[in-house]
Amino acid sequence: MAAGRQGLDEPPSPPSRGRTVHGEPANAGHRVLAPDDAEVEAYLEQALHAPPPQRAGEVPSEPDTVVILDFGSQFAQLIARRVRELHVYSELLPHDTPWAEIERRRPKAIILSGGPSSVYDEGAPHPDPGIWTGGIPVLGICYGLQLMAHQLGGEVASSTKREYGPASVQITTEDGLFRGLDRRQPVWMSHGDRIVRPPIGFVTTAETETSAFAGLADPTRSLYGIQFHPEVVHTPAGREILRNFVVEIAGARPTWTPASFVETTVAGIRERVGDGKVICALSGGVDSAVAATLVHRAIGDQLTCIYVDHGLMRKRESELLRATFAENLGMQLVMVDARERFLRRLAGVEDPEEKRRIIGDEFIRVFEEEAAKLGQIDFLTQGTLYPDVIESKTAETKTAAKIKTHHNVGGLPADLRFSLIEPLRYLFKDEVRNVGVELGLPEAMVLRQPFPGPGLAIRIIGEVTADRLETLREADWIVIDEIKAAGLYRSLWQSFAILTPVRSVGVMGDGRTYANVVAIRAVTSDDGMTADWARLPYDLLAKISSRIVNEVAGVNRVVYDISSKPPATIEWE
Ligand code: XMP
Repeated sequence: MAAGRQGLDEPPSPPSRGRTVHGEPANAGHRVLAPDDAEVEAYLEQALHAPPPQRAGEVPSEPDTVVILDFGSQFAQLIARRVRELHVYSELLPHDTPWAEIERRRPKAIILSGGPSSVYDEGAPHPDPGIWTGGIPVLGICYGLQLMAHQLGGEVASSTKREYGPASVQITTEDGLFRGLDRRQPVWMSHGDRIVRPPIGFVTTAETETSAFAGLADPTRSLYGIQFHPEVVHTPAGREILRNFVVEIAGARPTWTPASFVETTVAGIRERVGDGKVICALSGGVDSAVAATLVHRAIGDQLTCIYVDHGLMRKRESELLRATFAENLGMQLVMVDARERFLRRLAGVEDPEEKRRIIGDEFIRVFEEEAAKLGQIDFLTQGTLYPDVIESKTAETKTAAKIKTHHNVGGLPADLRFSLIEPLRYLFKDEVRNVGVELGLPEAMVLRQPFPGPGLAIRIIGEVTADRLETLREADWIVIDEIKAAGLYRSLWQSFAILTPVRSVGVMGDGRTYANVVAIRAVTSDDGMTADWARLPYDLLAKISSRIVNEVAGVNRVVYDISSKPPATIEWE
């Protein structure tokens, strides 16, 4: 993206989402940014008084690497993902990363992302000029191309006329980037400035009706640039173009697979831990499940997992956890039945924020008690994901930071010190799922929809009681069951039931009833920041409704939530 354009949409996303650690607009937002079970890990971190995690260094050294310099495009992460889909490891770095730091990673290639600036803007982001002469192939995308042209002696013109949306490029020079492609290609453009004179040594490789320099190359220096965006689906040949650059031109080996990741990660953990003792909090979420399984594979019984059953989980979740980790994998698993404790503290509480506070607080207490029983612990395993690493400026997870503002609890002796093991810190969520599959974890765990840390407590509007939890659990089970049966579970971001405090009159058999209303929520979303209500088929809704009313005691009416986010949220609370 260049020169103040609105973002490319894949699909449409909101204009501004906070700042990345690089100071650029990002997918940042509240809550969902964290892995779906970050909360539970943060509780353990709190309970153990773990030091702030070190978020720098530790680059996996094995696979061939592509460095992507982030100039502020909200699709910079997408470039990283596209490269990884080619089975080549890629890393997103701040645009001004010093050349020495880039070189240290020994990348096979460098990609410059797009960005909202014009090269003429005051303070426009620039890379370390070392990248132009370092002998590593460079691909500039959009703003990245303009930078390349501008910094190497070409001419870029500011333009008020913007080119945005679908375009058609004519490939004029059969160079490595376009090898094997038809000469005419549909692409996605999003730029204002344009190149009017390429630097010496460059040839034109593609043009559009409005731009004679939609593609440039200087093959002798291995410098390439394209004005359009190969990372979005609106450029159908984008994947091929990236593959041509990364694999053919730069010669990166496509060896980054879930299997190779598991192998190197397990070996790395084994070496690092030695005969130390490791602890991990399981939440039922995919991230902690995969992280724990990797660590277990590396060091077996030196790992102890703690799972606190707060009674706010969905039906069968705790059973699945026990069966998977304790029975199938033979892990040391401490399952704490804390259901009574949580219910006691939640009695009479209706305010959602107060519920969250109590649940967090109680969690930490339980963890403290359990962790204290385990004696010396050397490492804490966390399921931190790559987006958290990129997007959290501070050294702590956002959830941890948030929880810390709420809690001031006593605990273990302050001189206990842990190191963190974060085996997923270089992975995107879908890669974590692939690794989970590779590790043989059950689908129900690996492909699970996001679920809030405070669980069903925030899907019961009003007081949380054992009876109301049971009602919601049963209704929710029917929703999941039917959505899965309809083959829609994976295409929805979330689908669940809410127990409302509203009661209404109904008739059943010969009598009148006065029972609760259950709401159904099903949404599609990319990241939880925005969401649209899912157009579920009427027949499916009818089936869910009739099953809930017939099978769940105390419910006589079912409604479907047709609100999008914004202005509504996904959860009701
Ligand atoms: P809202 O309701 O704000 O939720 O639209 C956005 C996403 O965040 C999830 N969510 C949570 N996740 N701990 C979490 O880990 C929480 O306390 C929490 N509250 C909401 C929600 O399910 C949705 O995916």
